[in-house]
Amino acid sequence: MNYPHDDLALHPLRWHADGSAIEVIDQTRLPHREELRRLSDRNAVAQAIRSMVVRGAPLIGACAAWGLVFALREDPSDAALQASVRILAETRPTAVNLGWALARMLARVQGIAPALREQAAVEEAIQICLEDIEQNRRIGEHGLAILRRLHHELHRPLRVLTHCNAGWLATLRWGTALAPLYLAQQAGLPIEVWVDETRPRNQGALTAWELGRAGIAHTVIVDNAGGHLMQHGQVDLVIVGADRVTATGDVCNKIGTYLKALAARDCSVPFYAAVPSPSIDWQVRDGLREIPIEERHAQEVAGVSGLDASGAVGTLRLFPAHSRCANPAFDVTPSRLVDGIITEHGVYQASAEGLAPLGALLALAARR
Ligand code: MRU
Repeated sequence: MNYPHDDLALHPLRWHADGSAIEVIDQTRLPHREELRRLSDRNAVAQAIRSMVVRGAPLIGACAAWGLVFALREDPSDAALQASVRILAETRPTAVNLGWALARMLARVQGIAPALREQAAVEEAIQICLEDIEQNRRIGEHGLAILRRLHHELHRPLRVLTHCNAGWLATLRWGTALAPLYLAQQAGLPIEVWVDETRPRNQGALTAWELGRAGIAHTVIVDNAGGHLMQHGQVDLVIVGADRVTATGDVCNKIGTYLKALAARDCSVPFYAAVPSPSIDWQVRDGLREIPIEERHAQEVAGVSGLDASGAVGTLRLFPAHSRCANPAFDVTPSRLVDGIITEHGVYQASAEGLAPLGALLALAARR
């Protein structure tokens, strides 16, 4: 179980060489506990995705691919294959990477004899993981070019704001929004990061954990602080990830992203989404109407989990037991508020016309 020439500690998912199991970092335990979970059957993978043991659009796509591997080991028949695709696809509705990865796995195995499916599925799942790493590294390079230009203009450390966690924990390595920051640090470009807390699941804690381990200067802020900081010239750039980008450039990402984009536009702060091509849904044109927004359990809003004074990780209730809580997990930022989509193929304008050359490039590559 390994990745060539890399530090295993920077991959949230590792696989056994024979494809019998994966190990994932349990993200529900971070940042207070670093624990690995071994997953070797479809239902365990589905539950890990649902409960956000694994999370982040590219990572849940890759995990679902491995879930299908394990399902095929149990039963490689057509009927079981279709049932497993459905079960895995229903775990979380918003990130398009989940359906994308399952469709790709299905395309690879359905035309071959059941006895050969498991091995083909292992190969495809590994390929999905390795491609994601390379896509993110290239996103990092294109994002770094933006950071360099800005630094050249400003001649001081850059202050970047990010929302949720779009770092290596959310992908197979590097992350999307954080990849340019890791490369900036390697290149000696001075950066400081404003980390949105990202209630209710506090993915900001994951971002802070990642940045801290990498030695990148960062400050955690409450979700409502970003607008104030932008008004006072404290933010040079916003970079976020995405769970689904439409063919017209609308960006669906963690709840609260839209408000950051609104504030950024009002304060003339550039707002970018860093997105590997599998996160683009070419079938969807109107993000607000067409993207299914996951509604998670109200309990996530009513309570908060953390470390208590005795060193135990626990959950505290925040609100009166009789108060109703609502928990929409994502929102859609209209393309008009997005200054660019940073992909592995370069930076594209967030519009149908702007993204069309990328669509054409990907269609050409798929035909080869
Ligand atoms: O609910 P989550 O934690 O899975 O949401 C994750 C995000 O919104 C990320 O910003 C997105 O998936 C991009 S990850 C590279």
